[in-house]
Amino acid sequence: MSLDTLGAFISAIEHAGELRRITQPVAARLELCEIADRVMKQPAGGAALLFENVTLDNGSRSPYPVAINLFGSDRRMSLALGVASLDDHAARITELLSTQVPPGIIAKLGLLPRLLEVAKFPPRSVGSPAPSQAIVCRGDEIDLGKLPIITCWPEDGGPYITLPMVISRDPVRGIRNVGMYRVQVLGPRTVAMHWQRHKVGAAHWRIMAERGETMPVCIAIGADPASIYSASAPLPPTVDEFLFAGFLRKAPVKLAKAVTCDLDVPAEAEFVIEGYIDPREPLVTEGPFGDHTGFYSEADLYPAVHVTAVTMRTSPIYATTIVGRPPMEDYYLGHATERIFLPLLKLTIPEIVDYHMPAEGIFHNLVFVSIDKQYPGQAYKVMNALWGAGLMSLAKMIVVVDKDVDVRDPRNAWWIALNNIDPERDARFSMGPIDVLDHSSRAFTYGSKIGFDATRKWPEEGYTRHWPAVIEMDSTTKARVDALWPALGL
Ligand SMILES: Cc1cc2nc3c(=O)[nH]c(=O)nc-3n(C[C@H](O)[C@H](O)[C@H](O)COP(=O)(O)O)c2cc1C
Repeated sequence: MSLDTLGAFISAIEHAGELRRITQPVAARLELCEIADRVMKQPAGGAALLFENVTLDNGSRSPYPVAINLFGSDRRMSLALGVASLDDHAARITELLSTQVPPGIIAKLGLLPRLLEVAKFPPRSVGSPAPSQAIVCRGDEIDLGKLPIITCWPEDGGPYITLPMVISRDPVRGIRNVGMYRVQVLGPRTVAMHWQRHKVGAAHWRIMAERGETMPVCIAIGADPASIYSASAPLPPTVDEFLFAGFLRKAPVKLAKAVTCDLDVPAEAEFVIEGYIDPREPLVTEGPFGDHTGFYSEADLYPAVHVTAVTMRTSPIYATTIVGRPPMEDYYLGHATERIFLPLLKLTIPEIVDYHMPAEGIFHNLVFVSIDKQYPGQAYKVMNALWGAGLMSLAKMIVVVDKDVDVRDPRNAWWIALNNIDPERDARFSMGPIDVLDHSSRAFTYGSKIGFDATRKWPEEGYTRHWPAVIEMDSTTKARVDALWPALGL
């Protein structure tokens, strides 16, 4: 059964025993974040939380409850995407690829749009007003201060919408993009749009700004969980995230015409903020913001969005998240991407067996990759290919190990890698784009990367000594101790 609304997702979480309702008054400013942070640090990601009595910045009680940490465990992430395990979607993609890809195709990643079409769940338009447009505020009726938009950390520049689906359209190709970019509230009808320069929404904006065209933007909050997740997925610019969400849900995403601009929005969203960016206006200061690096990211200049309408369901729930020192809820969203995208990475880099981005590495700082090594130098081939693949280009450190290493267990992967490397021989620096949030690079978004070849070394790679075996107990002794074990009382 596909979950069509945020409410249905929350009910399913409650049914699974993973929701805690909080009835005590909790301030949208800082307090909600502090509670959520403590819960997210609990083993396996803690429970999902529904705050039913949130105090707004003006001291009044929010008419809307606030949901947080809905995606913050492997179990809830699987529930969101309608599978028992996230690897199930990877298996569906692998199957599609093996049945649909004609032999000899080169632009394999470009096949993704076609593959998703094959899946036959394109978004479907519904008539207006959609459920997400049951209540419509325009002009002076709009006041974002009435929404329980949280201020996360003490030095944040203001309240932030942290779990949005930001909808824009490619002005050249007409393809829709949905991205999860934080949105800072600057006033009752103005927000700042933090799409980083490597992201698709920012590319749409650059083209429109150059042409001097006013850009329509919609910010949807809360919808079917597959759509919310898809906004965070690093899909190629040619893929509409709502098409991808339909593939994940095995049911189309329903869309409706926005009431004040020429974009389609999720018909089942909880809230939709409609607006536009004026290319003639100067950029505005966005930030600082306590970021998913665990550090504050500095204030910078981003476009302002002028809000032309806020629409909502009759009893909407406000969905949000927080980022900060890992692990946080976003680890589980990123982990879903890691699992689902493995078959697509394997298309262009077939020797990849598995990969993993541990929480401490906040995705782009550390990538472990295991490969089926067949020739000398292959670890370098793999790291160079990864640095050329979409947002993987931002990876700061890549550690390549052999296929028998379980990279999903970072302690195990480090143990092997640290044993296997001769630093001077096995490390290589490269240069490239760096994540906007990285504070260490020599220049903003530009700097160095390092790759470690932690595979077993071959004679052709200059290794002429004997490579030792990993210690394992023999099976006879293991069996004897297995039989003895219960009596030992250990
Ligand atoms: C909770 C959360 C917050 C995020 N905030 C931002 C952000 O403020 N700006 C940004 O560019 N990317 C942000 N991201 C990452 C993007 O959502 C991600 O790179 C996504 O692939 C972007 O979509 P796009 O490929 O369509 O541009 C965030 C991700 C998550 C999970």
